[in-house]
Amino acid sequence: MTITIKPIALKHTKAFHQALDQVARERRYLLLLESPPLDHIEQIVRYNIERNAVHFVALDGKQMVGWCDIRPYTTPGLTHAGELGMGVIAAYRRQGIGYRLLEATINKALADGLSRIELEVFASNHGAKALYEKLGFEQEGVKRQARYLDGVWDDLIMMALLKATK
Ligand SMILES: CC(C)(COP(=O)(O)OP(=O)(O)OC[C@H]1O[C@@H](n2cnc3c(N)ncnc32)[C@H](O)[C@@H]1OP(=O)(O)O)[C@@H](O)C(=O)NCCC(=O)NCCS
Repeated sequence: MTITIKPIALKHTKAFHQALDQVARERRYLLLLESPPLDHIEQIVRYNIERNAVHFVALDGKQMVGWCDIRPYTTPGLTHAGELGMGVIAAYRRQGIGYRLLEATINKALADGLSRIELEVFASNHGAKALYEKLGFEQEGVKRQARYLDGVWDDLIMMALLKATK
């Protein structure tokens, strides 16, 4: 199996929609419980490509098996920062794909001039938290009882990576 990591292209829209939907429907790891509609995803992909935003995907042939992107903030005073999101579909986890995606994303974001990358991860998501720590993210705070879903409470952990400490 050869997995390639590359910047997203418009032709990946449908595959991105499928991958995002698959991970969202697990109802554990993402805030989303399903993907937004395909036309909304296409807008996001176009927006990211037009602005050269950081959005990498992992492909096994034509199948998208993972993604990692950063939504840069546009509010004056916050444009040095952005919010990271990522996912790898279940059958492809623990094979180093998330690491490769995250590393590529961080490197491009810092090279492009971002100096703060932030994210939120559910406290129950130990695997993602371990991955973020491995690549230099540090915990900044906790939103306690941030989610109540399917009868389970979860905290959201706020993490960030600063260029200055990298
Ligand atoms: C989190 C996620 C992206 C990790 O991707 P992955 O391809 O499985 O991760 P990798 O194989 O690259 O793992 C790299 C390192 O991260 C850590 N890690 C990843 N998954 C882990 C797990 N389930 N338990 C413990 N550590 C884990 C380990 O340190 C691992 O290194 P190792 O395999 O040498 O021990 C993936 O599990 C996923 O998509 N989960 C569901 C969606 C999600 O959580 N998105 C993030 C929301 S904030």
